[in-house]
Amino acid sequence: MNHEIRFPTNFIWGAATAAYQIEGAWNEDGKGESIWDRFVRRPGVIADGSTGDVACDHYHRYEEDLDHMAAMGLKAYRFSIAWPRIFPNGTGQPNQRGLDFYRRLIDGLHRRNILPVATLYHWDLPQAVEDRGGWISRDTAFYFAEYADYLFRQIGSDVALWATHNEPFIQAFYGYGNGENAPGKRVPWRVLHVVHHLLLSHGLAVSAFRATKPQPICTDLPPPQIGIVLMIWPQYPASDHPADRKAAQRIDGAMNRLFLEPLFHRHYPADLVAHFARRLIVPPIKPGDMEIIGQPIDFLGINTYTRLFNALDWREPFLMTKQVPGPLPKTAMGWEIYPDCIVEALQKAREYTSLPLYITENGAAFDDPPPGPNDQIVEDPDRVAYLRSHIAACHRALTAGIDLRGYFVWTLLDNFEWAKGFSKRFGLIYTDYATQRRVWKRSAHVYRDIIARNGL
Ligand code: FCB
Repeated sequence: MNHEIRFPTNFIWGAATAAYQIEGAWNEDGKGESIWDRFVRRPGVIADGSTGDVACDHYHRYEEDLDHMAAMGLKAYRFSIAWPRIFPNGTGQPNQRGLDFYRRLIDGLHRRNILPVATLYHWDLPQAVEDRGGWISRDTAFYFAEYADYLFRQIGSDVALWATHNEPFIQAFYGYGNGENAPGKRVPWRVLHVVHHLLLSHGLAVSAFRATKPQPICTDLPPPQIGIVLMIWPQYPASDHPADRKAAQRIDGAMNRLFLEPLFHRHYPADLVAHFARRLIVPPIKPGDMEIIGQPIDFLGINTYTRLFNALDWREPFLMTKQVPGPLPKTAMGWEIYPDCIVEALQKAREYTSLPLYITENGAAFDDPPPGPNDQIVEDPDRVAYLRSHIAACHRALTAGIDLRGYFVWTLLDNFEWAKGFSKRFGLIYTDYATQRRVWKRSAHVYRDIIARNGL
């Protein structure tokens, strides 16, 4: 019997990173300060007290990292652009040396036949913009559009897929809701302002993209496309109790539908709006905003890692829910290993749109054993199993008729995992932070083989 799993011929196999998590060079070549540069210096906010000042030193070692991508056979590489490298003050005068870094990176991808997939915003707002109110202020949406417009004019044609934002949910609820991420604001009553301005900035950037009409760099490539990357995690109730079902619905509302509904139906979810309205929290919508937000895009990117179980919790003042652990084995993040999160997240998206879909992030942290100085490989059997089972789930989604175009592993190499610092390793490649040596894990070899055979 043949149990082989084969993917469609043009399926895009990739890996993903984000600027602040890998680049380092936090104040080089004219880069401005970002909210993460500021936030990590607050005592106690990062689990291991580390910063992204150096991170993986990718800013200087990108050629070596590109070679690793090529050796793995990646078809695409998803990275993010640091806004404060391009506009050190958020707006006004662009910084040529910042742009040049991304030009070199993109050139290196082209030379290796790897499609560039760029995210405009993976949470590193210029501090100067935060000082003027950050995402609480409507002006920030227009600064973002200016930044996006500049990039589309400079390098719009050189990137295959443009994503405006990465997981606006996390920026809003962790950056400004509970303060666990930069800028570390705890202003939950402003979270719908942040959500609305992030989405508005997305729409304004899409308008700028359409106006600049980037053309493909060569005739056998399709024209560049624009979309957004959302976090979609399936939500379950902790029990059959109606209160827990309500909790699951509320978290589904906040994490998933709060973004899907405005983007595809041009309104915010009524149940969640009502929940917030009882706390006198309303989104600051102006006439025309929802049309800007809901204008057509070309693809949707989905980041999914697990499912969550939810219960009502009256002590939690804001969403009034809490998470309880699920029954299955967990990764080092404490996230349940549940491969069908892929299928369920894709199905959820399918309820809203028939656009081409990508899994733009999926992967797992495990406590990998550090390699000895002469070791050429790190054995990571749990990650291998995780990736194989989640890639098999992608195939189930395809078989069920979902238009899934690609899969990106989070992440190419171990990096700065936000508030967890360097304590959580998600990489296909082990990063030795003391020496910046990169050592392939077994999962990198396995992924290379999956790509080469276009299946499992
Ligand atoms: C996602 C982020 C990414 C990384 C993974 C583990 O939420 O987009 O930067 O932190 O989680």
